[in-house]
Amino acid sequence: MRVILLVIAGLIGLAGAGFAGIYLRSEAMLRDVPERVAFDVSLPKGADAIAQGRHVARTRGCFGCHGQDLQGKDFGEQWDWPDRAVAPNLAAYAREHDAATIEAAVRQGIGQDGKALMSMPSYNFARLSDADMAALIAFLQSAPIIENPLPRARLGWGPRLALITGEEPHMAELAGLVPQLSVDAAAEPQRAAGEYLAMTMCNECHGFDVRGQSYWPPPTPDLMLVAAYSREDFATLIRTGTSGGRELGLMSLVAPDRFPDLSENEIDALYAYLSSLIDEPVAEDVFWRPAGGAE
Ligand code: HEC
Ligand code: HEC
Repeated sequence: MRVILLVIAGLIGLAGAGFAGIYLRSEAMLRDVPERVAFDVSLPKGADAIAQGRHVARTRGCFGCHGQDLQGKDFGEQWDWPDRAVAPNLAAYAREHDAATIEAAVRQGIGQDGKALMSMPSYNFARLSDADMAALIAFLQSAPIIENPLPRARLGWGPRLALITGEEPHMAELAGLVPQLSVDAAAEPQRAAGEYLAMTMCNECHGFDVRGQSYWPPPTPDLMLVAAYSREDFATLIRTGTSGGRELGLMSLVAPDRFPDLSENEIDALYAYLSSLIDEPVAEDVFWRPAGGAE
């Protein structure tokens, strides 16, 4: 009897040590982030700048995840991956933290506590221009604060283990893996504008280079397929999320929230860039397109 109790106590102790190990290792990894790149761009003032910042927030999906009044959102059961993801109240956050702290979260994937973010898709914003970033911050600082009590976020054992094994890198690491913009803006202004939009809107889901991804579910197609659409069908697709009258999956959920705000010029630029990709080679050795397809 005594022996059995001792064995049980020993097992509990071992399990405890295992969990403590996972916790400590994952916390250390969350703190292992590149040094924050300083952001000291002065913020624009005036109604035009605020409108530009609102446009950036709308087309990049800040409202969809942080609430239509930026009041914050508890993903609760709906999105169980990190255990409990809670997107903070952005209007309040923008008053409590300086511009550099906001920028580090948005473009560098580093939170106000110095730890890497896990759910906020900072890699989608890594290539936002300084001008758009500054306008976005000016807009957030001007948005009225809607009080909204939120629970504490929680990072579960599953995500902590996935972080340790390298299966699920944190956002500060992912943001660094997004390719640099490559189209020469002086020579090809429209394609460059389209590349900028695609690489700060579509790469959240269509692979870091918008050439498709199969690492995370659901897999998404290479956006060179836009070459198969007419300009008008493309506009309909991204404004409504339907293709030839057909409802899609995730695309039909995000497109109507984000992309109706795109101007005709922006759609022209996106269309010009994405349909030109059909003539460009696709990188093969990138993690977001593992050789064996979806995990
Ligand atoms: C797919 C959903 C999603 C989108 C899109 C999104 N966020 Fe977040 N954001 C989150 C979540 C969830 C968190 C909480 C931290 C975490 O779990 O990574 C967060 C955290 C933040 C934080 C605080 C980071 C910290 O802890 O200090 C800021 C600032 C922020 N987001 C700004 C933005 C802005 C600005 C946009 C639009 C450009 C945006 N977010 C788009 C989900 C999202
Ligand atoms: C939040 C994730 C997400 C974002 C952001 C996103 N897409 Fe998609 N998209 C998808 C998914 C997932 C599919 C596959 C169909 C489905 O499940 O909805 C898809 C499918 C498509 C298709 C193929 C439609 C068809 O006829 O089958 C096109 C074209 C497309 N997206 C273009 C874009 C463009 C352009 C952008 C950026 C302006 C974009 N997407 C941003 C998730 C996204």
